[in-house]
Amino acid sequence: MEPILDVKNLKQHFKVNRNFTVKAVDGIDFYIAPGETYGLVGESGSGKSTTGRSIIRLYDPTDGTITFCGRTISGKLSKEDRKFLHTNMQMIFQDPMACLIHAKKSWISWRKALIFTTSIQARKREQRKFTIC
Ligand SMILES: Nc1ncnc2c1ncn2[C@@H]1O[C@H](COP(=O)(O)OP(=O)(O)OP(=O)(O)O)[C@@H](O)[C@H]1O
Ligand SMILES: [Mg+2]
Repeated sequence: MEPILDVKNLKQHFKVNRNFTVKAVDGIDFYIAPGETYGLVGESGSGKSTTGRSIIRLYDPTDGTITFCGRTISGKLSKEDRKFLHTNMQMIFQDPMACLIHAKKSWISWRKALIFTTSIQARKREQRKFTIC
């Protein structure tokens, strides 16, 4: 089965000054199969968050290839690929108090994110459902 996400030799280096570069991620490989829940485990500062941020293109990766649903999402992105990436991949931040409305059930917050990334028609449909909730 083709992986949903395939990361090959991903590197994310941060140049701090001309003498010092932080190699936050330095050549990692992994893939995630459809339906698989994948956990990335490592000590603090080992590059887990940077890996996620690079994949979703908050950073431009220093090196490596990232394939998502068969599309290459590393390197220069076309407008269409960028839209595909940002409507099909989401980041859930580490601090639940900062990313979820604690007075509401968590799925309400998830649905809100989906509404903003789906088509206008689907958005209207979802908003109608929302008023019922
Ligand atoms: N923008 C940046 N510029 C320079 N160094 C950075 C930057 N972002 C992250 N780093 C460094 O990269 C390394 C990896 O950080 P990262 O936040 O990815 O680790 P982490 O595994 O998510 O840690 P934690 O478990 O504490 O969340 C750390 O040494 C961090 O200081
Ligand atoms: Mg982290």
